[in-house]
This record gives sequence, C-alpha cells and structure tokens, in this order.
Amino acid sequence: MLATAEEVGRRAARVVLEELEAGRLAALGVATGSSPARVYEELAAAGARWEGVEVFALDEYVGLPPGHPESYAAVVDRQVRAPLGLDPRRVHVPDGGAADLDAAGAAYERALAERGGVDVQLLGIGATGHIGFNEPGSSFTSRTRVVELADRTVADNARFFDRPEDVPRRALTQGVATIGTARRHVLLAQGAAKAGAVRAALEGEVSTDCPASALRTFDDVLVLLDPAAASLLDQRTTGRPRPVPA
Ligand code: GLP
Repeated sequence: MLATAEEVGRRAARVVLEELEAGRLAALGVATGSSPARVYEELAAAGARWEGVEVFALDEYVGLPPGHPESYAAVVDRQVRAPLGLDPRRVHVPDGGAADLDAAGAAYERALAERGGVDVQLLGIGATGHIGFNEPGSSFTSRTRVVELADRTVADNARFFDRPEDVPRRALTQGVATIGTARRHVLLAQGAAKAGAVRAALEGEVSTDCPASALRTFDDVLVLLDPAAASLLDQRTTGRPRPVPA
C-alpha cells in the first residue's frame, strides 16, 4: 500500500522504466481506464527511449464505430502511443471491429506469441473483479475471445460515453491465461470503489468468481494500492494497520 494514488502511478512507472533501462522491455502490456493514466504521464515525462518496444493492449470494445474516441485503439493512441512517440506499427490492440471476431482473437494471440509475449503487464481491476474484460466466470485457461460485459462494468464505463446506451456490451479481450503469460504483472487500484474487488482478488478464494484472483497463480505480481483501495484488506496482507476510512 502506498500513501497516495499519485504514488501508485509513480511506482508502477518506475517498474516499467527499470525494465526498459535494463534492456528487458521488448513488449509492454497496457491497460485502459483511469487506473493507469498517471503511469503513462510519468513514462512520457521520463524522456526515455522507446524505440523497438512493442505495446499490446488488453482489450477492445466490440461494436463501436471505427475511430470512435472511446475505442481502446483511440485511447491507447492518445494516452500511450503519442506521448511516448511510438511507431504505430508497434502498437497492437485487438480488432474489435473485425467481421470474424474469433479469427481476430486468434490473430492477436499469434501476434503476442510471435513477439515473445509481454514483459511487463499493467493491469487495472474492475469493480466486478475483472482484469482486461474477463468478467466473473471467465476460465483461468481462457485466451483472447469475445465476451459479454457485466451490467456493472457497462454502468461503470458509461462515464466515458455521452449516453449510457452508447456503451458497448461486448468486447474482445485477452483471456486470463493470455494475461498470465506476461513475465511480470503490476496491478494498480485506487479509490474505495475498488476495495471490495481488491479484497476478493487478494484474500478471497482463488476462483473464477473473481478473475483477478488468478493473479495469485502468476509468478511475478506487484499490487500497488492507495489507502482507499486497500481499506478492506486484512493487516496481514498489507503488513500495516487498516487505513481509517476518511
Ligand atoms: C476497464 C478495462 C480494464 C480496466 C478496468 C478498470 O473497463 N477493460 O482493463 O482495468 O475496467 O477501469 P478503471 O481503471 O477506469 O477503474
């Protein structure tokens, strides 16, 4: 647990930069949503050299018009590619607009495998316990595929759209097993709305009821929380007394 949401972003950026400087970052896995936004700002401000680094997004909505500003292709372009000055050919997002979505999922798996998988995967967590868009019930052996979004996820993501009915109800997402192939994982969560999902992921059963609990089966996972996101955790997990709610 870290003192502030800002510190969460800074620490995650430091992990990425250390891997980059050590020459171990051939591929960076990026999440969308608000959780990692500060990480990308920190990475851009660091003035590092990103030539040769491939970027892979976790997921993409299905059913948005091409070029929609809230498509994850557009978000990753705005928040990651442009600020870091990356070659667009090195930025990969699942093709949620493909006519054959199963084929698009398989193609994304091939692209990941051909580049040797992701070195550092940044992750947020949904209030449902999702990682990527793997909602409760997602198999731990799942690969990139089309999924239905939970009602809670659609409601949470409505803030990015003009009207609630504009929020897509399906997505093409890396599976839990796909995410698990990354060499390192950094999960970020800030705010009290994530506290229940964080507790389920870290202290509940390792179960498909909480897809983020699969992180406990991965090899190298760093969980960065602000006090509000950590507020329902047992002291034995954080090593510190539970934060007093504000
Ligand atoms: C989104 C994304 C996830 C993200 C999560 C949390 O819908 N598909 O990759 O981690 O939900 O979003 P936020 O960080 O905005 O709370």
